[in-house]
Amino acid sequence: MNDLAGKHLVLGLSGGIACYKAAELCRALVKAGATVQVVMSQAAEQFITPVTMQALSGRAVFTSQWDKRPSAGVDNQMPHINLSREADAILIAPASADFMAKLIHGRADDLLSLMCLARPIDRVPLIVAPAMNREMWAHPATQRNVTQLRADGTRVLDVGQGEQACGETGDGRMLEPSELLDDLLAFFTAKTLLGRRVLVSAGPTWEALDPVRGLTNRSSGKMGFAVAQAAQRAGAQVDLVAGPVALPTPRGVRRLDVSSALDMQAAVLALAEHADVFVAAAAVADWRPAQMAAHKIKKDGSGQVPLLEWVENPDILAAVAASERAKRGDLYCVGFAAESRDVLAQAQAKRLRKGVPLVVGNLGPETFGRDDNALILVDGRGHTELPRASKADLACRLVHEIAQRMALG
Ligand code: C5P
Repeated sequence: MNDLAGKHLVLGLSGGIACYKAAELCRALVKAGATVQVVMSQAAEQFITPVTMQALSGRAVFTSQWDKRPSAGVDNQMPHINLSREADAILIAPASADFMAKLIHGRADDLLSLMCLARPIDRVPLIVAPAMNREMWAHPATQRNVTQLRADGTRVLDVGQGEQACGETGDGRMLEPSELLDDLLAFFTAKTLLGRRVLVSAGPTWEALDPVRGLTNRSSGKMGFAVAQAAQRAGAQVDLVAGPVALPTPRGVRRLDVSSALDMQAAVLALAEHADVFVAAAAVADWRPAQMAAHKIKKDGSGQVPLLEWVENPDILAAVAASERAKRGDLYCVGFAAESRDVLAQAQAKRLRKGVPLVVGNLGPETFGRDDNALILVDGRGHTELPRASKADLACRLVHEIAQRMALG
């Protein structure tokens, strides 16, 4: 799941300085395709005005249960009922300590708490993003309330850590808008890999010639990072072994940075011991210099080119696919084939050569560094084409295709 198209969200603001982040969050939700209905408590109005939230959401904001305007198109003076009925979820961000305390008691003395209590509990999930001072967050009363909220079926998101508006430093900040968006996308993603451990290799490798030069390739790592993110959103615990790339770590993914093919091999072999799936999206260099020079190799003006000796790198994917766990069917291996022509035939041949159940073919020059791609999935039954789309969308589809094949055994 990579966008919120078709989703209708109620964004509730309770009182706290993190209300300023709710403005950016609202904009991010709308940009991601959601329709957003904002509801604010009176305390929230002390921090940000309904006018701001109305402009960003494109809808009238509701703040009072006594509001006589029609709500959600219904003219019955019952905004606490109408506003939640069409929602795919209610997100309270920020959720103050006081508001969480109200929720666990089922108190309903303002529109926001009343609406949460009156929502159809089986159909409209409630998600809260806590925001408060570190002492308030650590207080046993708040922690008790978090436990009770979870027991009541509410999704309580993590808090951030760091500097707080009061000048103190610690746990309790509201997550950043981009993190909240990530968590929301994960929330709506089908958990097809729940409880699975997924290992992904991504990016190029760097084979050093000397301390300043090396052999590498044009892999950006974007496809592998997208697969790691999609697997995490699908409920997997994800390890990402990344060659040298300048990409942010997907939220909730454990990343291990490596440089050479040998480093990548060591990391992958160790992590593969506990993985259920290995997706080899890395573009591993085929060769490395037999020896790395201790100092920069200098040209001496003679016109002579240094003679370099090369050795072949180990095939990481083939080695993992040949392991006992993979052969027993405990580790599902997926290879990538970046070709410049005949993608289908090359991917079919690669599948047999590497001994893996699934190979994902793509045209290298048409994908390197880009945000979109087109894939051909080749397995023992035939092939499936995934037409050109964003790498994020393709990764999502790929993850679900992998999950389906694993379920079939
Ligand atoms: O052999 P080739 O590089 O074309 O195969 C590509 C697939 O094999 C990719 O999945 C890549 O991550 C993996 N591979 C590997 N170790 C290598 C070379 C490729 O894991 N040394």
